[in-house]
Amino acid sequence: MINQNVSEFDSELIKKYDVSGPRYTSYPTAKEFRADFSEKDYKHYLLQSNQDAKNLSLYFHLPFCDTICFFCACNKIATKDRTKVSPYLSRLLAEIELQSALIDSDRKVEQLHWGGGTPTFFSHEEMRSLMAKTKQCFNFLDNDEGEYSIEIDPREANAETIHVLREIGFNRISMGVQDFNEKVQKAVNRHQSIAETENIIKASREANFKSVSLDLIYGLPFQTADGFHDTLKKIINLDPDRISLFNYAHLPKLFKPQRRINETDLPSLSEKLAILQNSVEYLNEHGYVFIGMDHFAKEHDEMVLAQQKGLLHRNFQGYSTHADCDMISMGVTSIGKIGPIYSQNEHLMDDYIRKIDDGQLAIKKGLILTQDDLLRRDVIHQLMCHFSIDFSVIEKKYKIDFKQYFSQALESFLPMIDDDLLSINSSCIEISPKGRFLIRNIVMNFDKYMKQAPEGTFSKAI
Ligand SMILES: C[S@@+](CC[C@H](N)C(=O)[O-])C[C@H]1O[C@@H](n2cnc3c(N)ncnc32)[C@H](O)[C@@H]1O
Ligand code: SF4
Repeated sequence: MINQNVSEFDSELIKKYDVSGPRYTSYPTAKEFRADFSEKDYKHYLLQSNQDAKNLSLYFHLPFCDTICFFCACNKIATKDRTKVSPYLSRLLAEIELQSALIDSDRKVEQLHWGGGTPTFFSHEEMRSLMAKTKQCFNFLDNDEGEYSIEIDPREANAETIHVLREIGFNRISMGVQDFNEKVQKAVNRHQSIAETENIIKASREANFKSVSLDLIYGLPFQTADGFHDTLKKIINLDPDRISLFNYAHLPKLFKPQRRINETDLPSLSEKLAILQNSVEYLNEHGYVFIGMDHFAKEHDEMVLAQQKGLLHRNFQGYSTHADCDMISMGVTSIGKIGPIYSQNEHLMDDYIRKIDDGQLAIKKGLILTQDDLLRRDVIHQLMCHFSIDFSVIEKKYKIDFKQYFSQALESFLPMIDDDLLSINSSCIEISPKGRFLIRNIVMNFDKYMKQAPEGTFSKAI
């Protein structure tokens, strides 16, 4: 059992280890996916997964946004034209039929997530119709025990929307806030009042959502430690169950709208560290526990309890309390994970539509994981979720000698051991309280592909 209140912020060490790295929502990361992975490969593994018959996690990508936030690194399509939804929805419904036809109908949907973009860009009727088709083709848990979640932009929803979402089956909700400071909001083109956010949270409570989570970003233009502290005070008053505090990933080569952010307006590294340190301390004082990479939750939240019991998992949505499911993903750019494979759908809407209209799945690329990939993924995710790893568990599962297999990685930890980020003994690795904020830098030592990544591929840890 781990003690969550033992994360210790050391700004000098964080500065020292501030290098770019992936967030490991998948391992290997999406940049390793291969174009020669075909629809035939996908179908083969999907059909084969019926033998293990793991429960299912369904992901739907709803990419539209009314206005673009300049910082955004998500796969989105900015448009004011609401008629664009209908043709996309009809392809999603067709894709549900194509995929579900290959999956045993008794496999339970344990998780469901609508991500974006902004899922509530869809009208209430469009959302109802998407969920109705999903429930018609897949086997949902009927006791509200599934983890059925949606990402909301409070500017793109009202109280009625929230009640519709609860009625069609969602029970967890996360919403973007980023920062309440007006100067920051103006610089990133996202104007969102506290009242708008508060109304949506209130409606979520009334509708009996099991968990309300808010997204914040630090590192945005004009942010200061004092200004962000004001935002955090307002956030605490809103009383969310969970908080995601993301480090702004500034990769203007990859995300065009970020070129509209003036780099000279970004906070310095020391200001960012001050923001992060103050935020971590303030959140702890107010009863939020650091789960791991960017995530905080109230002491009695199921995520904290799952972590204490060693039952936390990591997937494309971050951390999850539900065991390893096969993830079936639908919609443009969406990423799936089934058995030993990852797959990704077409990136461009026209290509996605063309393939679905041809009666094909919209697979663009993917990866068949080797035994070594599976092993490393397990180690990386175990460390990210529980800050320790017991060699014997991995040795038994993968028939290896841990210390021998990872001798290079273990050697590369020596400077980190000297800096008290972790300790290694004969049976396990333990991440220290100081190391917890640098977990991605630590696990990068287990990433076989890391050294080959060109500069600008991943964001910095801080
Ligand atoms: C798909 S968006 C959230 C849903 C909704 N569209 C909204 O904006 O409220 C998911 C979250 O990703 C985070 N995000 C987006 N771009 C980011 C970036 N460049 N760096 C760090 N976090 C980012 C934001 O906190 C955002 O709320
Ligand atoms: S942060 Fe949300 S609303 Fe803003 S552009 Fe990204 S997906 Fe759209």
